[in-house]
Amino acid sequence: MADHRVLCWDCGKDVENPYADVCPSCGGLLTIKINLEPLKAMKPKDLKMPLGVWRYAALMPVDASKRISIQEGGTPLYRCDALGKEIGVENTWVKYEGANPTGSFKDRGMTIGVSRAAEIGAKIVGCASTGNTSASLAAYAAKAGMKCAVFLPSGKVAAGKLAQAVFFGAKVISVDGNFDDALKIARDLSEERSLYLLNSINPYRPEGQKSVLFEIMDQLAFDVPDRIILPVGNAANIWAVYKAIIELEEIGWIDKIPMLTGIQAEGSMPVTRAFESKSSDFTAEENPETVATAIRIGNPVSGRKALKAIYGTGGYSVSVTDDEILSAQKLLGRKEGVGVEPASAASVAGAKKLREMGVIDKNERVVCICTGNALKDPDIMISSCEPPIRCSKDLSEIKRILSL
Ligand code: F0G
Repeated sequence: MADHRVLCWDCGKDVENPYADVCPSCGGLLTIKINLEPLKAMKPKDLKMPLGVWRYAALMPVDASKRISIQEGGTPLYRCDALGKEIGVENTWVKYEGANPTGSFKDRGMTIGVSRAAEIGAKIVGCASTGNTSASLAAYAAKAGMKCAVFLPSGKVAAGKLAQAVFFGAKVISVDGNFDDALKIARDLSEERSLYLLNSINPYRPEGQKSVLFEIMDQLAFDVPDRIILPVGNAANIWAVYKAIIELEEIGWIDKIPMLTGIQAEGSMPVTRAFESKSSDFTAEENPETVATAIRIGNPVSGRKALKAIYGTGGYSVSVTDDEILSAQKLLGRKEGVGVEPASAASVAGAKKLREMGVIDKNERVVCICTGNALKDPDIMISSCEPPIRCSKDLSEIKRILSL
């Protein structure tokens, strides 16, 4: 376990209350400061565990020997030549987070977050979610033997995610409102200590999510890519990746910084809008709407941290339309055999758009992080593709349909 402190990202004060989700003094966002001094003597070859979150236990703020784990991380990094050719970026890789135990990158943060919950003796954990966080938390709470309550925006959670949350035994509350409303409820309950909040505003969650960056570096033999592209919703993941980059740079494992590039959906783009106006803060949007329900968020809790990640790496942010998202989703499936959910396809759609805009150079080495599995949202796959062809058992009719 790394020696660490929880402190306020805004005013820098130490925060002792383990249930606090913002700074008790100034209301700022929390973060974890890892003491990197002892790590400076360490080299990548000293990592002994297999690829996965716990390979990087030395950079994690919880005790690995007491971990709540379902073997998260260790996901493939695909070299995607056919996709690269289509989008005009020859050196394109896809980090396939859909291969995590519950099918999304959330498992990386949840193994650390739920291990922390166990450490402080929490009995009930909870979160608001557009779907994946709730699926992941429900699974890890089951593994830890904790009670779990999740708050979801009514009618806006993809079928696979909802199925997972109920299947793993969480109390699922469908809130009449959007994600931002559901998060308010979860935070109120956390404030009165009725539950331990495991949304990404909890500073332990992004610590686990740092591991996606550590793995990408490991998989590329620490030959740092030029750019890493990822979808932005509540905006913690891009921050986690940034934090991981800064930590690796500080301990001397990398000597270059990839440009972090955040993609939002056109109907839900507060972070991109802030980037477009060169602002370090964002204005919340009232009625976010997009086919990529995972990132349908108007008031991203970690929006300011996301902007820091983008500006701090010389990165970029752009929005993509629902049509661009669905085309990119299909392109990745049909060129590479890789199935991702719409929000994840936003990163590929963003790569294509930024190449067309000339922001991405054709020789850049680009990694798109694809955050969730296509099976999370089967309805969108079925409705955006050719329907099955109904026919009789007659072989000649089938041959005619297949032009054989
Ligand atoms: N991709 C997927 C598949 C997601 O589920 C999410 C967030 C994101 C991208 C965006 O990540 O919020 O860190 O910027 N899903 C959350 C949830 C909000 O509740 O499952 P972010």
